Amino acid sequence: MNEKTVILLICFTMMTDNLSAQDFNRAGNEKYRPQFHFSPETKWMNDPNGMVYYKGTYHLFYQFYPDSTVWGPMHWGHAVSKDLVHWKNLPIALYPDSLGYIFSGSAVVDINNSSGFGKDGKVPMVAIFTHHDIKGEKAGTNDFQYQSLAYSLDSGTTWTKYAGNPVLKNPGIRDFRDPKVMWFEEGKKWIMTLATKDRITFYSSADLKNWTRESEFGNNLGAHGGVWECPDLFPLELNGKKYWVLLVSINPGGPNGGSATQYFTGDFDGKTFKSHSKETKWVDYGTDNYAGVTFSNTGNRKIFIGWMSNWQYAQVVPTISWRSAMTIPRDLRIEQVNDQFYLNSNPVKELNKITNLSFSKENFVINHKLDVSKKIADSKGRFKLDIFFAGTDDFSIRISNERGEELILGYEKAADQYFIDRTNAGESDFEPGFAKKHTAPRISKSSTISLSLIVDHASAEVFIDNGLNVFTDVFFPGSLPGNLKIFTKGKVRVNKLELSKIESVWPGF
Ligand code: FRU
Repeated sequence: MNEKTVILLICFTMMTDNLSAQDFNRAGNEKYRPQFHFSPETKWMNDPNGMVYYKGTYHLFYQFYPDSTVWGPMHWGHAVSKDLVHWKNLPIALYPDSLGYIFSGSAVVDINNSSGFGKDGKVPMVAIFTHHDIKGEKAGTNDFQYQSLAYSLDSGTTWTKYAGNPVLKNPGIRDFRDPKVMWFEEGKKWIMTLATKDRITFYSSADLKNWTRESEFGNNLGAHGGVWECPDLFPLELNGKKYWVLLVSINPGGPNGGSATQYFTGDFDGKTFKSHSKETKWVDYGTDNYAGVTFSNTGNRKIFIGWMSNWQYAQVVPTISWRSAMTIPRDLRIEQVNDQFYLNSNPVKELNKITNLSFSKENFVINHKLDVSKKIADSKGRFKLDIFFAGTDDFSIRISNERGEELILGYEKAADQYFIDRTNAGESDFEPGFAKKHTAPRISKSSTISLSLIVDHASAEVFIDNGLNVFTDVFFPGSLPGNLKIFTKGKVRVNKLELSKIESVWPGF
């Protein structure tokens, strides 16, 4: 971001901050406020950070600027949940300090006290994050990002920064950030996956304090239209075999513009990651799932949360007192299609706690049009549609409101592609590239199509073919989307359709 953009954004924020005081009195009641996605009570949020599960609690830290609705000196905000659905905000976990802003990173439970931070038998939770020295950046140096530690001895509630910070100095790479650390059991060591310009560098350590460079990954592989950020490395099992997955966010250079997250499947031996394929693969073809990573300490289950926005317009979207939300937490699995391995993302089953089936129909034919608007009439723009088509014919699903604003998604057989189109879905004049159609080549080879759509007033998450193709798009309809219609070219058989309403997790809604 350049100086001019920063000044413009500050002016815009001052205008919008004034509005918030006049127009709205309760966060949960604000226009466009997600009702079952995590969003900050006020002000600016970006990436999820330090996600870790410990003693029955999920911790979600996040890039947070408590003084404005645009990006600024970064803190780690903190929220906790028992079920990945109801979140409680806690005090800020990490504040900027003399070493810099607190950029993205991860957290681990150091069960064996390898770091030595544990005391009196208390297990330390350790956060590994990037310090971003803004003075160094402004002075034009190249080494203003470096990795540091903080630890908690009360299960993540309060944090102390390590006096020996930074633990990994910068070798002269301007973009040197977002450490994701995991325990590599086979080699009994910690592995740090770090974004270094448009490459990944792996480091290892026995104690989280001393790090050794192992290897670099990414030359001539994957998308390179922008800087690489917020990586994650973890194993997944398929038919008893271990596959390693490397997530890499990229900004810009996404398949439908702006920032997005690519991934590689391959092998990791504690030193080097080898990709199975030269194909560039995307976690999500929508434009609003960025910087997503997985929780640590969840065993074989890999739960992913992304930031539901895009750097192309994140700072100008028309929400008033806060900006952005997180995606629905998703379970990640691996699936083989022909000779390739792909990630599946699907909403966590915990979402069912607040999802109430309101209509279900099996084995029927849609002849050009099916209007199910009445079934979600009082859903307040919060609903889930699950549909299982018996074949692979063209269809479109239209979500609209009484103003005629319409979000359309569907399948185009001739191009063998899925799409989501927010061209006329609501407010869009804040950014010229926002009102667009996003497309994704179909990955599945199945002879049927399954689709789950989750709408929360101002966002749509679409999981197709059991999560092989995903779209996450935000949109800003001037009134709640309450109409839902399905269109086909002729007669199309449906094996099953289910509609559910989703409860708000804001108290009183
Ligand atoms: C990704 C990112 C990270 C960085 C953070 C700063 O969205 O640019 O690379 O650590 O945001 O807020």
